Amino acid sequence: MSEPFAQLDAGGRLRHLVTLDGLGRELLEALLARAEAFAAAPARGDALSGLTVANLFGEPSTRTRASFELAALRQGAIVLNLDGALSSRAKGETLLDTAHTLRAMGVDVLVIRDSEPGVQESIARALDGEAAVVSAGEAHLSHPTQGLLDALTIRQCKGAFDRLSVAIVGDVARSRVARSAHRALATLGVPDIRVVAPPAMMPGDADFAGARRFQSADQGIAGADVVMMLRIQHERAGSGGSVDLASYRRDFGLTAARLRHAAPAAVVMHPGPMNRGVEIDSEVADGPQSVIRRQVANGVAVRMAVLAQLAEARRMRAR
Ligand code: NCD
Repeated sequence: MSEPFAQLDAGGRLRHLVTLDGLGRELLEALLARAEAFAAAPARGDALSGLTVANLFGEPSTRTRASFELAALRQGAIVLNLDGALSSRAKGETLLDTAHTLRAMGVDVLVIRDSEPGVQESIARALDGEAAVVSAGEAHLSHPTQGLLDALTIRQCKGAFDRLSVAIVGDVARSRVARSAHRALATLGVPDIRVVAPPAMMPGDADFAGARRFQSADQGIAGADVVMMLRIQHERAGSGGSVDLASYRRDFGLTAARLRHAAPAAVVMHPGPMNRGVEIDSEVADGPQSVIRRQVANGVAVRMAVLAQLAEARRMRAR
C-alpha cells in the first residue's frame, strides 16, 4: 500500500492542489477570501518572484491556461508553456521523466491538465518536496481551481452559501467541472445541490453524494438561485454516446423561456467553451442574468490565490 497522498503541509497549507476532496471549509474560505481581494484589486505582487511555473497542457485549453499564466506572471514568476509536452510520452519519454527533466531545470510549480486519471497525483508524489503540482483538469474527475472560481462567483453574486439552491445541468457524468463545483459547494455549506441530466449523462449513484437528481430540466431548474450549465463533452465519448443536438437543446438547453423556471434573481453560469444554441442560447449567455464573464475574471484571481499559498508553503519549508 502506498502512503496516503498529502496535499497539505503540517501548517494546513497547500503543498499541491490536485483535488478539492478532503480540503476543509476553512481552507476553501481562506482561498476564496484571498482570491476576492485579488478580484477587487488585481494588484501586481511579488509572491512568486524567484519561482518558475510550467504549464503542461495535454488537452486543449484557452481560458484555464491563459489565466494560470497571467496569475503567475502578475505575481512575478517566470512562466514556461509546454503545450503538448506530455505528448512526448508518444516519443517514449514517460511522464515522470518529463517532470524530472523540468525539475532539473529548476521548475518549482507544474500546472498540469491531462485526459488520463491520476497523472497529477503520481507526478506530485514523485516530485514531492521538490516541486508543487496544480491540477488544471484531470480527465472527467476534477478541476479544482474551476470549482473554486465557481464558488467565488456564486458568493459574490449571492452573498452566502447557506440558503442556496444550485442546479448543475447537462453532461454531468463526464464533467470534471461539475464534480469540483459539487465538492466545493457541498464543503462550503450549500444545502440544495441538484444534478440535472438526461439518463445517459446522469452520474452513477456513488458520485455527487447528497445531490438531488432530476431528469427534467424544467423541474431541476425550478426555483434555483444558480443555474450552472455544462458543455457536452463530445471528446469523452462513452456514457453519453452520440447526442442529437436538436432534441438536447429542446429538453436541456437553457433558453430564455426555460430560465424563467429558476428564481427571478437567478444567475447563469457556464465554464466555457460554450456551444451556443445547444446547451445555452446566446440570449441567455449574453443576457442580464449571465455571470459567465465574471467567472472568467475570477479564474485569474483564484489561480493567483492558489499559487500564492503554494509559494508560501514552499518558503516555510525552505526555512
Ligand atoms: C472546462 C474543462 O476543460 O474542463 N473548461 C474550462 O476549464 N473552462 C469545461 C469544458 O471543457 O467543458
